Amino acid sequence: MEKTPRAFYTPLAIGAPEPFRELPVTLERMIHFVPPHIEKMRAKIPDLVSKVDVILGNLEDAIPADAKTDARRGFIQMATDNEFGETGLWTRVNCLNSPWFLDDLMEIVPAVGDKLDVIMLPKVEGPWDIHYLDQLLAQLEVKAGRSKPILIHAILETAEGVKNVEAIAGASPRMHGMSLGPADLAASRGMKTTRVGGGHPDYAVLSDPIEGAARTPYQQDLWHYTVAKMVDACLSYGLKPFYGPFGDFSDPDACESQFRNAFLMGCLGAWSLHPTQIDLAKKVFSPDPDEVTFAKKIIDAMPDGTGAVMIDGKMQDDATWKQAKIIVDLAKLVAS
Ligand code: GLV
Ligand code: MG
Repeated sequence: MEKTPRAFYTPLAIGAPEPFRELPVTLERMIHFVPPHIEKMRAKIPDLVSKVDVILGNLEDAIPADAKTDARRGFIQMATDNEFGETGLWTRVNCLNSPWFLDDLMEIVPAVGDKLDVIMLPKVEGPWDIHYLDQLLAQLEVKAGRSKPILIHAILETAEGVKNVEAIAGASPRMHGMSLGPADLAASRGMKTTRVGGGHPDYAVLSDPIEGAARTPYQQDLWHYTVAKMVDACLSYGLKPFYGPFGDFSDPDACESQFRNAFLMGCLGAWSLHPTQIDLAKKVFSPDPDEVTFAKKIIDAMPDGTGAVMIDGKMQDDATWKQAKIIVDLAKLVAS
């Protein structure tokens, strides 16, 4: 199938910043959520800047309706009061059909200037949602005199959005990537759960008996299909895929294993909603030193990336060289 050209972006005025053709290579292992209406949380920003790859001021779900204005103003304050250096600054605005979305955009873009890197747009259903935000940003950027375009990160969290994931990925050169939103997706699909991501003890299959042993249920990954679909859509358009939130802070093992599945399947990071998830994401989304050592052996054994060699009894060829390069490049980025 032909790739859909990214032809929808039409800057409305001369002077609009050129959209990126290739995304900046930067570490985004965790997108750390901060509720900006809480002063105590805003006070932690200087400390967080050195600990996380991305700080996100959350304006959407989990912010009560009567705190939406304070959250928006709090985000502007945290953006203007702090220096973020290499750390990304993102915001999650309210969804397009909420009473807050337009004010989020109109107040934030002119106020925070070039400090804002990415807008996370929730509940994206199709490319039309991205086009709408794209056009509004083009106007606001010119008005605000921005020198770089604000990128868009879509949350994949409705059945309609999953159906349209490829069109969403190709909707604009502003697209940065996508995150799985398992909580809203569960509701949108009519799943019978009350959780924010992760597995479920009832989503399991019974294994075959092993030498007369009792049958053991094996839990399945509820999110495998959507993550795989999202990764393919993102990578085919050069975007970055992410696992989203994991809500059970009392179960770091389950969180780690959900993050690890996503990492192995191609995701670059996940959301951290609690300070304990920062180090966990850092660990999971940085390549394992043993994997890096093995990957380096492959690169060294095939300097031009072609041919076939045996290493530790395993066949390596051009395709495993490419896999190895991804791991080695990521390790270099982490070390830099
Ligand atoms: C995130 O927004 C989710 O709904 O999981
Ligand atoms: Mg959601």
